[in-house]
Amino acid sequence: MARVHVAAVAHLCRTHYRPAELARWTNQGRGLYTTLVRSATVVVAERSGVVVGFAAVSLATGVVRAVYVHPGHAGGGVGARLLARIERSARVFGVRRLTLEATLNATAFYGRAGYRPIARARSGLGLKCVRMAKLLRPPRLHARAA
Ligand SMILES: CC(C)(COP(=O)(O)OP(=O)(O)OC[C@H]1O[C@@H](n2cnc3c(N)ncnc32)[C@H](O)[C@@H]1OP(=O)(O)O)[C@@H](O)C(=O)NCCC(=O)NCCS
Repeated sequence: MARVHVAAVAHLCRTHYRPAELARWTNQGRGLYTTLVRSATVVVAERSGVVVGFAAVSLATGVVRAVYVHPGHAGGGVGARLLARIERSARVFGVRRLTLEATLNATAFYGRAGYRPIARARSGLGLKCVRMAKLLRPPRLHARAA
């Protein structure tokens, strides 16, 4: 996860953030990932046994915490599938609305997935971002013959 996170930020976010901001983002230490795994539902995407992306959602609060794809695998649908996977978990858990703080480079990605902007915001690291939200359909109930 650390490898994917650092590479994704360094290569895919540099269009919208200054080097000092990117450095702040990637130098949060390994504790970032253990905290995420302990406090959120995390899914990873693998290719040939190697992690190429991950996503995290806090089901209790309905907050998407992370979606990161390694630049070598970006643009191939991995991010969309990771996002769809955590949305499915959220639906099953009973979440009806997901919110997130999209970094400026990722607003179009989330827009494609049905998230709508609510307000401009600053992340915990002070980075400019956009608060976005999406209403989730309830999961389909499957009727079973008695
Ligand atoms: C944002 C990110 C997760 C997207 O992952 P990805 O695997 O490249 O995205 P996908 O290939 O699944 O793209 C899904 C859709 O979003 C669109 N999209 C993805 N990135 C986009 C971008 N930067 N600008 C415009 N559209 C984009 C794709 O064209 C695709 O559209 P389609 O449905 O019409 O085919 C990835 O670029 C990334 O890790 N970025 C750096 C980390 C980051 O900013 N994460 C978000 C933190 S809030």
